Amino acid sequence: MKKIYLDNAATSWPKPGEMVKAMKYFFEEIGCSPGRGGYECSLKAGRIVLEARLKLSEFFNIPAAEQVIFTQNVTHSLNFAIKGLLAEGDHVITTCMEHNAVIRPLRRLENEGIIEISFLPCNEEGLLSCDNIEQYIKSNTKMLIVTHASNVTGSLMPVERLGNIAKKNSIIFVLDAAQTAGVYSIDFQKLNLDLLAFTGHKGLLGPPGTGGFAISKRAAKEMKTLIEGGTGSISDSEYQPDFLPDKFESGTLNVAGIAGLKASVDFIMNEGLQTIREHELNLLEILYQGLKNIRGINVYGPKSLNLRTPTISITAEGCDVGEMSYNLDREHGIMVRSGLHCAPLAHKTIGTFPEGTLRFSIGCFNTEEEVHYVLKCLQKMKI
Ligand SMILES: Cc1ncc(COP(=O)(O)O)c(C=O)c1O
Repeated sequence: MKKIYLDNAATSWPKPGEMVKAMKYFFEEIGCSPGRGGYECSLKAGRIVLEARLKLSEFFNIPAAEQVIFTQNVTHSLNFAIKGLLAEGDHVITTCMEHNAVIRPLRRLENEGIIEISFLPCNEEGLLSCDNIEQYIKSNTKMLIVTHASNVTGSLMPVERLGNIAKKNSIIFVLDAAQTAGVYSIDFQKLNLDLLAFTGHKGLLGPPGTGGFAISKRAAKEMKTLIEGGTGSISDSEYQPDFLPDKFESGTLNVAGIAGLKASVDFIMNEGLQTIREHELNLLEILYQGLKNIRGINVYGPKSLNLRTPTISITAEGCDVGEMSYNLDREHGIMVRSGLHCAPLAHKTIGTFPEGTLRFSIGCFNTEEEVHYVLKCLQKMKI
């Protein structure tokens, strides 16, 4: 049976061959730690990390490569932002469509009596439904932290508008780009971002265990470290360096992963982000229209496809989404995800809590033929 992968919002697959080659090359020819030794292989490993930093700063329009910090994933990056920048008495504004990677660290600080949180309302399409965002700002509002796109509905947030409001009110603006990095254009400087959190293994087409954040110089000065340790720099000091990227990058980096991530970003830039977006939008349109024409299926998310990533959530009347996902895999070889997608608040917002949804998420290697096959299989299912 042919296998069709439509769970790219969880992790993209397959990966570009260039990514696999870069990781193989690292293990076969280099293999050692960067920045820890003066021998040639260590210098080569350091060069890989620097080139990846440069590549990502070009890709996201970040002023300087040292403002790119590598972490294990976007969850780590968001924890750095939330726990490193917020202090007792701060107020935070976020949205009703966030992933638990934002909600849980915020809720922890709230539970400990450290911060207070306001949620910007969103409508049943998962779009921000509030015209006057500034009414939520208080004298102690420190941070605006939002997902660029929901992983449940694909709905895109009006980040340009949010960035302008944050700048005008001197509020730190943090973006969770888990669903958009490599999928939708992101300009760090144009969006007035203080911290852009990204993960390597989704739209950036890189390996799991890679990710990071880009940080403004202002926020980097203010942000406390979450982890301290060896950096390979100023080793005579018992104190953490205060310069970038070392301030936030302790311990041995995942150089194999970073080599793979760089190759994947190269692949995206060579193909063209806009070309990939157009291909995914075309498949999204076919899937969206097809799903809407199947009786008994409810389709969630924005009706205007330009307002979403290529992710669609559905439910089917009288059907359990877990069972549907199981049957699609076992009977038709179609891999999709069911349930709450680690975003309970988003499901409460669109009215699919606690059952969740069946989620189809398209990636750049999917084809029209695959989408038509999925629709045919769904039409045959008893709904
Ligand atoms: C919007 C959003 N934020 C954060 C995450 C967490 O990503 P990671 O597991 O790579 O840290 C996800 C993953 O699904 C997501 O969709």
